[in-house]
Amino acid sequence: NAAPGAATPSFRFEEIAHGVDETHHVAPGHDVNVLIRWGDPVLPGAPAFDPMKQTAAAQATQFGYNNDFNGFAPLPLGSKTADHGLLCTNHEYTDEEVMFPGLNGEQQKANFARMTKDLADIEIAAHGGSVVEIRKVKGKWTYDAASKYNRRITGETECRITGPAAGHPLMRTAADPTGTVVRGMLNNCAGGMTPWGTWLSAEENINGYFWGKMADDHKNAAAFKRYGIPGAWYNWGAYHDRFDVTKEANEANRFGWIVEIDPYNPTSAPRKRTALGRFKHEACNVVVMKNRTVVAYMGDDERFEYVYKFVAAKKYDPTNRAANLGILDEGTLYVGKFGADGSVTWLPLVQGQNGLTAEKGFPDQATVLINARMASDILGATKMDRPEDVEINLKKDTVYVVLTNNNKRKPEQIDAANPRAVNDWGQIVEITPNDGDHTATKATWKMLLRGGNPKDAKVGGQYHADTSANGWFACPDNVAVDNHGRLWVGTDQGENWAKASGTADGIWAVETDGELRGLSRMFYRNPVGAEICGPFFTPDDKALFISVQHPATDGVELYKPFGKLSTFEEPATRWPDFKPGMPPRPSVIVITKKDGGVLGL
Ligand code: FEO
Ligand code: CA
Ligand code: CA
Ligand code: CA
Repeated sequence: NAAPGAATPSFRFEEIAHGVDETHHVAPGHDVNVLIRWGDPVLPGAPAFDPMKQTAAAQATQFGYNNDFNGFAPLPLGSKTADHGLLCTNHEYTDEEVMFPGLNGEQQKANFARMTKDLADIEIAAHGGSVVEIRKVKGKWTYDAASKYNRRITGETECRITGPAAGHPLMRTAADPTGTVVRGMLNNCAGGMTPWGTWLSAEENINGYFWGKMADDHKNAAAFKRYGIPGAWYNWGAYHDRFDVTKEANEANRFGWIVEIDPYNPTSAPRKRTALGRFKHEACNVVVMKNRTVVAYMGDDERFEYVYKFVAAKKYDPTNRAANLGILDEGTLYVGKFGADGSVTWLPLVQGQNGLTAEKGFPDQATVLINARMASDILGATKMDRPEDVEINLKKDTVYVVLTNNNKRKPEQIDAANPRAVNDWGQIVEITPNDGDHTATKATWKMLLRGGNPKDAKVGGQYHADTSANGWFACPDNVAVDNHGRLWVGTDQGENWAKASGTADGIWAVETDGELRGLSRMFYRNPVGAEICGPFFTPDDKALFISVQHPATDGVELYKPFGKLSTFEEPATRWPDFKPGMPPRPSVIVITKKDGGVLGL
């Protein structure tokens, strides 16, 4: 552990400026390369991307839409190589108005009548995730379209349900009376990589895929309401009964989990690990303690939702990978309570304890996990300002809880960890476990920074005083920690960007320690309408992968040179190809230093 003020080097790059335009920008001395784009071939026989000839079959062999989390799994397995590996990328959701020609430019529900079964099936194939072999050759990263490791997981891929809720009556459907096999993973947002070389992919806003007019006496009515089901953002239920809650009551219980995938085994079924609870999972990051106990931290990304951690029952075994693959199936899930005195109390979500009884609707542990939000309500956990990433700083044994915003918090609802009403800017809370023990039920917390303009008293942003006019940001979302324990923060302001900051989303580098703690500098800026997802470093910190998600969509009507909603035919930007007729394409980029050195040094 580094002592406060000990040798943490300060960032050495020239800051870039706030702004917004059609393309990306990075600090001088760096290169941005587009590694892989929506539609690029991933599997054998995949056709070249043709936006006018899209089919579900083609999409299922090509890189999916809206890349989110990125993980790097070194090749070969277990090696320390930093220039050859498997890129594990989530495909969170689809934006049909810029994916398909002939729609009206409005989003989702306005397009339902135009969304044919063929288009809906392309969307289902564009969800899920990809594994792609990548390599650095002469300083430049490329992917191998012919690799035997390459894989697409879609909304139709067979996944297994494991852990305490597997097979429970609430998990059974007409198509799967066993309650252990489900087709697809959906809305996979952020995630994490485990020390045993697997990819954890977090199902987030799963409510949007279900529709149907739910009766008050629907057997899951109260629980579905707590989860916002049916959200009806997509019309897949018109063509597939499992997405209609009036036709299949339990399918929605089979989404909203952490999915564990072995990227080294392309035929292995993804596993939905029910021991980690069901909610709108943003991320899942694992730490293995010195005594080999495994702890995972997670957030539920919605306004007034909770922060969770999971302590596995079995210990990590560095000599037995097969045994580690089941570690996340057994253990204790906790939800966090953040005290005004700087304390964190982790409350166990265990049936029979603390009021989680049959009379309260929790007859067994499976129900506690399936309806984890309702169990957490009973325990009195702290309602946070949208927990996005929860990332572990292994250098300092601390945990960053990234709270993105909460415009619904009222003045009478503020608390120490969520200190602003109508919070358009977010904050980052740092947890320090007592004596480095991540299993303990007590920890402490303090504020690392508060988002928003620090010079505007009405906003109340809080950073190190030397942070420049470009160094502050709003709506922190996914973050990465480098080998020096410094934090790289990606933002997602959504449609509110003009009010929250006036700059496009980007990456800011934040000092976490010593006298400069809380000093923030702008490193990278996205094209208009895109959010930052999935920042992830190679093990040597010489490459930073970033998902540029949904270019040309969020808030583009507020981008003055454009001033309207994007369509496929006329998007706010055609990043990254800038070719006539080519729509904007969500892509994974890789940032390297021109001299090949370590980023941020
Ligand atoms: Fe999918 Fe919470 O971002
Ligand atoms: Ca996202
Ligand atoms: Ca996110
Ligand atoms: Ca977000």
